[in-house]
Amino acid sequence: MSGTHTLPDLPYAYDALEPYISRQIMELHHKKHHQTYVNALNAAEQAYAKAATPRERIALQAALKFNGGGHINHSLFWKNLAPAHSEGKGAGGALAAGPLKDALDATFGSVDAFKKEFNAATAGIQGSGWGWLGLNPGSKRLEIVTTSNQDPLITHIPIIGVDIWEHAFYLQYLNVKVDYLNAIWNVVNWDEAEKRYQEGLAGKVRL
Ligand SMILES: [Fe+2]
Repeated sequence: MSGTHTLPDLPYAYDALEPYISRQIMELHHKKHHQTYVNALNAAEQAYAKAATPRERIALQAALKFNGGGHINHSLFWKNLAPAHSEGKGAGGALAAGPLKDALDATFGSVDAFKKEFNAATAGIQGSGWGWLGLNPGSKRLEIVTTSNQDPLITHIPIIGVDIWEHAFYLQYLNVKVDYLNAIWNVVNWDEAEKRYQEGLAGKVRL
């Protein structure tokens, strides 16, 4: 289907995040799941443009939110992952000294303590959703937030988002969410997170 939105390319190969996220998961997640959100968002936007009454427009709100959120969230997710430094493949999982690390240390006590708190909050989501490290735009403090379904993070500036839908991990980790959450830190793109943090402090928001 044609439309305004298109599936972004992954910034790495489908198998680049192995062994932490399998090629099979990445390929299905990108080519099938994300593509479906893109197609449905385009369809909803086209229907919205043609809607003649408030009633028709209101009826499309849920589809816009769900599929628009799915597109936004996954577009961020691909960028906030990177091939693992521990595997000699890239910079994933390596947090360099800088403002973000200093802020995590100051806010949560240590980076490890932050990961533990993040994983506990994210594993606690009932059903499908996303775990976030967000920058509170008012206080400029880092906070752990969760959203349900495909709700995008609106209250905070997203720094890192982790997909906790079963499609993100089930083929490799089965029902053991906590193993997936522990593994994913090996492939988190901290360079991207640092950039987003510093942009957020300066009042710039992407996505
Ligand atoms: Fe997903």
